[in-house]
Amino acid sequence: MVKEKKILIAGCYGDFAKEIAQSLHKAGASLILAGKSKKKFLEKYKDSGIKGFEKLFFECDLSDEESVLDLEKKTNKLTKDLHGIVNCVAFPAYTKSIFETELAAWNEAFKVDVNSVFLVSKIFGKHLVDAGGGSIVNFTSFHIKATYPNRILYNACKSAVEGITRSMAVEVGKYNVRVNSIAPGPIYSSRTKFFLEQNPTVKTKMLARTPLNKIGTLGDVADLVLFLSSDYSKHITGQQLVIDGGWSVNAWFESFNT
Ligand SMILES: NC(=O)c1ccc[n+]([C@@H]2O[C@H](COP(=O)([O-])OP(=O)(O)OC[C@H]3O[C@@H](n4cnc5c(N)ncnc54)[C@H](OP(=O)(O)O)[C@@H]3O)[C@@H](O)[C@H]2O)c1
Repeated sequence: MVKEKKILIAGCYGDFAKEIAQSLHKAGASLILAGKSKKKFLEKYKDSGIKGFEKLFFECDLSDEESVLDLEKKTNKLTKDLHGIVNCVAFPAYTKSIFETELAAWNEAFKVDVNSVFLVSKIFGKHLVDAGGGSIVNFTSFHIKATYPNRILYNACKSAVEGITRSMAVEVGKYNVRVNSIAPGPIYSSRTKFFLEQNPTVKTKMLARTPLNKIGTLGDVADLVLFLSSDYSKHITGQQLVIDGGWSVNAWFESFNT
């Protein structure tokens, strides 16, 4: 359902993005990969199995308007019949309480997490309209449903992305453009490895309150992106799809799994 469809992955060499690129490539999609550093991209994709991956890459600071407009120019021929956008840019993990959070970090995180989604969706979303429709997938987090201390900056950024998702969906539905977000719970990745492994009881307690009794994988996330980018989800827009093994709907106070 994505065969030969052109899909832009914005922020293409994070853990999620690489898995998504591999999965879309396997399904026959044609990729445009944008990211901040060519060096990091080449290193990350060398074992990706994507033939000719070097030629699919464009260097871009996706939080900067000039740079995104320049990307649009450079990819002009490729984006004529663009079908999909996957927004994967993210600010590094930041864990401080409201009283400790610095304004400089606050502004930088919003620039990276929120401005990138705004700019890429605004500038490349027009290509989806011109092509007669398409799909945008954004990433938020389970934190916007239920959170814990010291994640205020992350939660604020992801809540803003959720707002963009809903507002854009109602504006562009008439062009057959769909906009959805994925809200992952903990997924095994470089971002969460430290958190999951720093204290052995963290993982045990997490699993105890997760109905499906497992931590999500990058493959689980890539499958959902594939679904949202394909016509199998053609009547779904403006939605937040939570992928957390059921954690966020659990109100039971004891372990499910013993
Ligand atoms: N992992 C989880 O369990 C989890 C859970 C909930 C939600 N999420 C969300 O899922 C998304 C993907 O997560 P992930 O683990 O794949 O994140 P990640 O590995 O940290 O990837 C983020 C990517 O964004 C890039 N980036 C940052 N600023 C940029 C800019 N200005 N221009 C272009 N690229 C830029 C980074 O490149 P550089 O390295 O060069 O800066 C990096 O490759 C994120 O939005 C994250 O918040 C993840």
